[in-house]
Amino acid sequence: MIPTREECLRLMGDSGMLENIIAHSIEVAKVALFISTELNKRGQRISLDLVEAASLLHDLTKTECLKTKEDHAKTGSQLLRGMGYERVGEVVAQHIWVGKEADPLTLSEEEIVNYADKRVMHDRIVSLEERFNDLKDRYGRDQKAMDYLDRMEKEIYGIEHKIFFILQIDPNDLLHL
Ligand SMILES: [Fe+2]
Repeated sequence: MIPTREECLRLMGDSGMLENIIAHSIEVAKVALFISTELNKRGQRISLDLVEAASLLHDLTKTECLKTKEDHAKTGSQLLRGMGYERVGEVVAQHIWVGKEADPLTLSEEEIVNYADKRVMHDRIVSLEERFNDLKDRYGRDQKAMDYLDRMEKEIYGIEHKIFFILQIDPNDLLHL
């Protein structure tokens, strides 16, 4: 079961998400849907409904987690699974880290949403370089935090290469969506 775009927007509005996080999520959905549509033209089989819902809902619990310091990928996933949105919950769980061994030839909805989230800074499409520079400025307060971001950066460049090897366009082409 996957909620429609309207259901997602209602859920977002009802959940008390900060306006800027709602704007971010809408932009992530735009990027993720563009990538998915183009990948499907080249033979991938990505569920557009799933990508759209998971993109819109990926930060559903982030606002409250800013206070509680909980992991919003985890709590968001649990909340959505509890509502019967099993697959959406799975994708949301992996929007910070994909973590599992990826198939070299096939993109998953998890990878797409994860990647799109990292191409949107606030509500603006940026390069991975710009996004990680900002993340390191804001969160790279010690060596451990920097190592964490370096590992995340490594994972995401792997996904970027996979996507754009199939699409045969430049990652910077997304800047003009
Ligand atoms: Fe997030």
